Amino acid sequence: MKQQLEKIRQEALAAMEAAADPQELEALRVRYLGKKGELTAVLKQMGKLSAEERPVMGQIANNVRAAIEQTLEQAKTHLAAKAMEAKLRAEAVDVTIPGKEVSLGHQHPMNMVLQEIKGIFVGMGYQVVDGPEVELASYNFTRLNIEEGHPSRDRSDTFYFNDDDSVLLRTQTSPMQIRFMENHKPPLCMLAPGRVFRKDEADATHSPMFHQIEGLVVDEHITMGDLKGALTTLMKRIYGEDSVMRFRPHHFPFTEPSCEMDMQCHKCHGTGEVDGQVCSTCHGEGWIELLGAGMVHPYVLENCGIDPEKYSGFAFGMGLERMAMGRLRINDLRLIFDNDVRFLNQF
Ligand code: DAH
Repeated sequence: MKQQLEKIRQEALAAMEAAADPQELEALRVRYLGKKGELTAVLKQMGKLSAEERPVMGQIANNVRAAIEQTLEQAKTHLAAKAMEAKLRAEAVDVTIPGKEVSLGHQHPMNMVLQEIKGIFVGMGYQVVDGPEVELASYNFTRLNIEEGHPSRDRSDTFYFNDDDSVLLRTQTSPMQIRFMENHKPPLCMLAPGRVFRKDEADATHSPMFHQIEGLVVDEHITMGDLKGALTTLMKRIYGEDSVMRFRPHHFPFTEPSCEMDMQCHKCHGTGEVDGQVCSTCHGEGWIELLGAGMVHPYVLENCGIDPEKYSGFAFGMGLERMAMGRLRINDLRLIFDNDVRFLNQF
C-alpha cells in the first residue's frame, strides 16, 4: 500500500506539472483526488490494515494528498500566469506604429456664410431666433396680410398637410415676425434664419427646400433710412466696401412701402456684358436681386397687438443660398445640397 501511495504521488505530481491548460489540470484533480479517484480508492482499503499500520499509512496518505493539493495549486497559479502572459502578448499595442489619420471636416459653406451674416447682425444688436418649419397658415399667410385666394397660397405652390389648408410647410420665414411680436414688445430687433419649402422643380437657381433669413426691427420712429442703413451695412461687410446697392420699389402684402434690394453685378460691374458676351452671372441685367424688404404693414403690427400709431418697423427676407452663392462664387444652387466632398473641400 505504501508503494501504491508513492506511485500515485509520483504520477500525480509529474502529470500536474506537465498539464498544459486548466481543463487538463481539473481532469487530473478528479482523477487523483475525486470521490472515485485513485487516492480515494487506496484509502478505502485502509480498513483491511492492522491497528498499528493504520495510523502510519494514514499519515503517509495524508502527506500524499497534501503534496498533490499543493502541486495542484502551484500548477494552477503557473498556468494562470502563463495564460495572462500570452494574453498580454497577443493584445500588445505597438506604440511605434504611425497613427491612422483622422480626416477632419469643416463647416458647410452655406453655414459659413450664415455665421458671417449672424455675426454682423448680432453686432448691430439683433437677437437670433428659431421657429417651426411646420407652420399654421394663419402665421404663414393670414396674419401677414396675405389673404385667402392670394396666389402664393395656391396648392400648386405650397405643401399643405390637411384638407382645409390650415397646416403647411412654411413657404417663408416671415411668420417668425408674427411669432416674435406675439411674445416681445418693442423695441425689438430679431433675426430668424431657417428652412422654407415651396413646390419648385430643382434647377440651377431653384430648390423645393431652401433657406431664408428674416429680419425685423420695431421701435418708435423707425424709418426706411434705418432699413437702408442696416442692409447696406450687411452687404458691404459681406461683399466688400466697394459693392454698389440699389433699392427698387416692389410689393409685398406685409410691408408698405416695399422694396427689393439689388447688388451691382460683381462680374460685369453693371454693364451686363463680359468680353462682348452677355454676362453669365447676372444674365445681362447688370444687377443681382438679393432680398425683399419694406416697412412693416400697420395691419401686421395690429395683428400682433402693437400700436401702429406709436410704433413703426422694417422687415426683410433674404435667400441664404443666394447670399452664399454670391459670397463664395458658386454658380449652381444644387451644389450646395449635393454634399459632394470635392465641392465642399474647396472652401
Ligand atoms: N417673405 C418674402 C419672400 O419669401 C421675402 C420678404 C420680403 C420678407 C419683404 C420680408 C419683407 O420680411 O419685408 O419672398
